[in-house]
Amino acid sequence: MQLERILQQQGFGVRKACRALVRQGRVTVAGKAAKDPEAEFDLTGSGFAVDGVFWPYHARATLLLNKPAGVECSRRPRHYPGVLSLLPPQCAARGMQSVGRLDVDTTGLLLLSDDGQLIHALASPRRKVRKTYRATVRHPLDEAQLAALRAGVTLHDDPAPVAAVKAIAEDAHTLTLILTSGRYHQVKRMVAAAGNRVEKLCRIAVGGLVLPGDVPEGTWCWLTQADLEKLWEEEKTS
Ligand code: URA
Repeated sequence: MQLERILQQQGFGVRKACRALVRQGRVTVAGKAAKDPEAEFDLTGSGFAVDGVFWPYHARATLLLNKPAGVECSRRPRHYPGVLSLLPPQCAARGMQSVGRLDVDTTGLLLLSDDGQLIHALASPRRKVRKTYRATVRHPLDEAQLAALRAGVTLHDDPAPVAAVKAIAEDAHTLTLILTSGRYHQVKRMVAAAGNRVEKLCRIAVGGLVLPGDVPEGTWCWLTQADLEKLWEEEKTS
């Protein structure tokens, strides 16, 4: 593909702006200045640098953000900054969006992607992708609450009960909940229906992909092919 098209596809602006970047000598490929915007490259598995900053080439890009509280997942945030404001502007320019949503006060693992098929597949209830949440709850957890969460609780907008795949008390006030559906405020509403209240909520895994310890809140990393495969991993039975 022509270099100017690659830059455009990767979110570096309209074609004219990308051509100008190249002509100004600001783009390097494999360490060499690339001065011809129409030069053909196959950058699969590699990348390019703009103003000395390396940018891996992704035909379709997916990243993991450790979402902090106080940011909205919507593309048009209304009351708080949007998650895209935590990412390089190229992410918004190439149409990346959050895969599902976390509430403004929820932290943790949020995927953003411009891969329509992936976004659709992860959202599909038929795929039953596990989302693991760690909730701090107001009242001490008891067996009755855990049993209700596992057996299924009724939310006011649907008579069909929703059940957690797992509900584990890590300690008196820390609940791990695994869900395969993703309704509005689902964890908070399920915990409320079981007679408790969520004070803090963090998503710690999607499928077999666990929030990495070296991605602090408010920062992000690209997903590798191995990471993408983990999203579809079935739960390991021991
Ligand atoms: N369930 C909730 O209640 N909130 C979230 O952000 C995610 C799941």
